[in-house]
Amino acid sequence: MELETTIIDEDRAALEGASGAPKKVFVKTYGCQMNVYDSQRMTDALAADGYVSTEAMDDADLVLLNTCHIREKAADKVYSVLGRLRDLKSERADAGRDLTIGVAGCVAQAEGGEILRRSPSVDLVVGPQTYHRLPEMLAKVRNGEKVVETEYAIEDKFEHLPQPRRAEVIKRGVTAFLTVQEGCDKFCTFCVVPYTRGSEVSRPVRQIVAEAERLAEAGVREVTLLGQNVNAWHGEGPDGSEWGLGRLLHRLAEIKGLARLRYTTSHPRDMDEDLIAAHRDLDALMPYLHLPVQSGSDRILKAMNRRHKASDYLRLIERVRGARADIAMSGDFIVGFPGETEADFEATMQIVREVGYASAFSFKYSPRPGTPGAEMDGHLPEEVKDERLQRLQALLTEQQQDFTRGMVGRTMATLIEKAGRQAGQKVGRSPWLQPVIIDEMAAEIGDIIDVRITKTGYNSLFAEPA
Ligand code: 5AD
Ligand code: SF4
Repeated sequence: MELETTIIDEDRAALEGASGAPKKVFVKTYGCQMNVYDSQRMTDALAADGYVSTEAMDDADLVLLNTCHIREKAADKVYSVLGRLRDLKSERADAGRDLTIGVAGCVAQAEGGEILRRSPSVDLVVGPQTYHRLPEMLAKVRNGEKVVETEYAIEDKFEHLPQPRRAEVIKRGVTAFLTVQEGCDKFCTFCVVPYTRGSEVSRPVRQIVAEAERLAEAGVREVTLLGQNVNAWHGEGPDGSEWGLGRLLHRLAEIKGLARLRYTTSHPRDMDEDLIAAHRDLDALMPYLHLPVQSGSDRILKAMNRRHKASDYLRLIERVRGARADIAMSGDFIVGFPGETEADFEATMQIVREVGYASAFSFKYSPRPGTPGAEMDGHLPEEVKDERLQRLQALLTEQQQDFTRGMVGRTMATLIEKAGRQAGQKVGRSPWLQPVIIDEMAAEIGDIIDVRITKTGYNSLFAEPA
C-alpha cells in the first residue's frame, strides 16, 4: 500500500509540471502504419516525461508532426502545416504561453537541419531511430536550444522505448500494430525508405512476444505485425537460433486472447515456404496478403530493381492460394516510372486482371531526391501519368467492388471493434479487413462473432447475427 501511494504521488508531480497543469502533446501522424505505431510509442515515451496527449492542436504545449517522405505531396503537406503552427506560436507568445514544435518521422530524417532553415519556428527535428531520447531532447529545448537529432543511434531504440501503457492500449482499441522489423536493404530505385529508415533491423523474438503479451493482456484481439519488409524479418529466437516470420507467427498464435494476426508490408522475394505454410496451418493468420508488385512489365521491374519478373509474382500467388484458397490479395502500383511505355503500362493492367485484387493502392511515380530513379532518363509528362493512373484505378475499383459484392449471403467471423452511430449498432472487422456494420446485436467490444452479410456499401458490409 505504502509503495503504491508513493508511486501515485510521484506520477502526479511529474504530470503536473511546474505550473500545476499537465503538459499536453498533440501528435499528428502522416503516412504509413509504422508512423501510427511510432506516434503511439512517442506518446508513451512522453507520458513518462509528464505529458498527456490531447486531440486538439490549439490546446497543446508540444506539437509533433510525424511526417512521411514517400511521395512529394506527402512531404509538401508538412511545410504547409508548419506555416500554420508558426502563426499559432506567435499568438501564443503574445499571450505568454509557450508552444514547442517538433518534426519527427521520415521528412525529419531526410531533411534534418534544412527544416530549421525553412521553418525557424521549429524547435526540434527528430528522426525515427531516436524517439526513445525525446525527453532528453525536450529538456534541451526548454533550455533554449534548437535540437536536430537524425543520427542512427547505436543503441537499440526498441530496448529503450517504454512498453505501451495498459491504459493507453485499452483506449486504442482491440486491434493494434506491433513493429517487428524496420528499415530496408532492397533499394528499389524509386524508394526513399532505405535512406530514411536505414538498413533492416529485426527485433528479437523475446521483445516481440513480450509486447504482444502485454497487448493481449490489455484486451487486444488482433495484432498486425509491421515492417517495411516484414517478411524479411529474421529475429533471434529464445534459444539463440534465427527464426523466420512463419515461426514467429506460430509462436504469437499461442498467446492467450490473441485471435487474429496479420502482417504488412511484404516483398515478393521474401515469401518463404514456412510463411506460405503458415497461411495453411494457422487459423489465427487472416486470409489477406498485401504483396506489392509495383509494375507488371519485366523491363520496368528491372529498372525499379525489384529483382523478380512478373511471372515469378504470378507463380508465387498461385502457391499462396494453394495454401489458403480464400486469401484476398492487395497490392501497390506505381504508374509512370521513367521510361514506362504504353506497352509497359498495359502489362501492369494485365497482371492486375490476372491476379484480381481485393484492394490496392496506386500512385503516380514521384521522383524522390537522392534515389536512382530521380536521375534516370525518360521522365513522363504529368498528363500521361494522370491518364494511366485513372485507367488503372478504374480497373482496381471494379475488382474491389466485385470482391465486396461477392460477400453478400456469406457467413463470417467478425471482430467487434466499437459501437455504431445508432443505438444497438456495432461495427466490426471482417477477416478481409472490411468494416462490418451490424444493427441490433448484443455483443461486447472484442468479441468475435459469426454474422451473415445482407448487403454491401462501397467498401463496408452490412450484416445480421448468423
Ligand atoms: N513514387 C510513387 N510511389 C511510390 N511508392 C514508393 N515510392 C514511390 C515514389 N517515389 C509507393 C510504392 C510503395 C508504396 C508504399 O508507395 O507503391 O509500395
Ligand atoms: Fe522501398 Fe523497395 Fe524497400 Fe519497399 S522493398 S521499402 S519499395 S526500397
